[in-house]
Amino acid sequence: MKALATSVTGIDRSPIRFILDRAAAYPDAVHLEIGQPDFGPPAHVLEAAVRATLNEYTGYTANSGLLALREAIVTKLARENNIHVTPDNIMVTVGAMQAVYSTMKVFLNPGDEILLPDPGYGNFTMAARLGYAVPRFYPTVPSRGFEPDLTALEALITDKTRVLFISSPSNPTGAVYSEETVRACLDLCRRHDLYLVSDETYDRLVFEGQHVSPAQWDDEGRVVSIFTTSKTYAMTGWRVGYAVGSDDVIAAMVKIQEPMTSCVNTVAQHGAIAALLGPQDCVETMRAEYRRRRDLAVELALENELSVSYPHGAFYMLVDISSQPKGSLPFCCDLLDAEHLAVAPGVSFGERCDGYVRISLCANAESLQSGIPRLADYLHRVSDAARGASAHCSAVAAG
Ligand SMILES: Cc1ncc(COP(=O)(O)O)c(C=O)c1O
Repeated sequence: MKALATSVTGIDRSPIRFILDRAAAYPDAVHLEIGQPDFGPPAHVLEAAVRATLNEYTGYTANSGLLALREAIVTKLARENNIHVTPDNIMVTVGAMQAVYSTMKVFLNPGDEILLPDPGYGNFTMAARLGYAVPRFYPTVPSRGFEPDLTALEALITDKTRVLFISSPSNPTGAVYSEETVRACLDLCRRHDLYLVSDETYDRLVFEGQHVSPAQWDDEGRVVSIFTTSKTYAMTGWRVGYAVGSDDVIAAMVKIQEPMTSCVNTVAQHGAIAALLGPQDCVETMRAEYRRRRDLAVELALENELSVSYPHGAFYMLVDISSQPKGSLPFCCDLLDAEHLAVAPGVSFGERCDGYVRISLCANAESLQSGIPRLADYLHRVSDAARGASAHCSAVAAG
């Protein structure tokens, strides 16, 4: 048999999925690994989807999505993001993830380079590699609250670079980029003639500061913005996201939608209209609960002498595990086997993140209260053991 395509064999499976599968062996495991909201979707969204089903609104839609949904998105973008566009600037996608993939397909030829954040969401790298593009990773630095190091970023640009990809609020760091940073990224793209792709999956989940969209300052079609209903409305399985860009870029994405998925699930699109145009108090309720969990997680981490990132948005926190000798994936496997506690290995988010594990604040307070001290206890134990072993080796070598 011939081998499978190298675009597929050349990429690794997500280490988070690896941990999830391994955790299935432990029915009593505490789960702090996955970014899946533990809320249900708002009742008015469920009702809209049921109504759509009963009315048999179940045929194909336009490749770009229902006009009524794109009009609802136009309203939301003006209301929340200071982006003023028409329905022709919008493409409804299968979650934010398909918007990411389609955007890369539209911008990148095989061998072209894309600048991605490290730490950053691992699926961005997989999507780039699937299209034979070459990811180059720019550092987002802990000492600057995980904002990008723009000097290091600029030094990575070559004549093959076509796209700068930014993601704020960030998974996994929880950083919310300042207006100054976002404007500087756009300026840099103008100077080097790059496209700017801005993943804004967590635009409504900000605890301090303000989320800003670069598209509000774009007057030449350089920016594509990516949003989703997944996290804001606890609709991860509905798979409704959207890309916003110039007429030309969106027309190209609409063209390739036909062989990819044709369109997004019609019933889910009706649910998304209700989510975007209906009452928004559910968003505030969930945001307030994530914030409470963030405060609790930071407090528990400090009490248990863990060094952590301080997330200003999204719903993740990084825990520094660099005091012990193993990489984050073997560490997470051992932690799971020893303590029945599942956390996400930092290496899922890039090489620079291998000294961390990620905790998800989608877990409820009880899971955080049980999991974080257990993680701390285990980390201190294996760090002490490693220090003891290394001291013993040095003594033997000296003696
Ligand atoms: C930063 C980021 N972008 C995109 C996605 C994908 O979102 P969706 O479920 O809408 O495809 C995620 C999901 O966790 C994410 O964390």
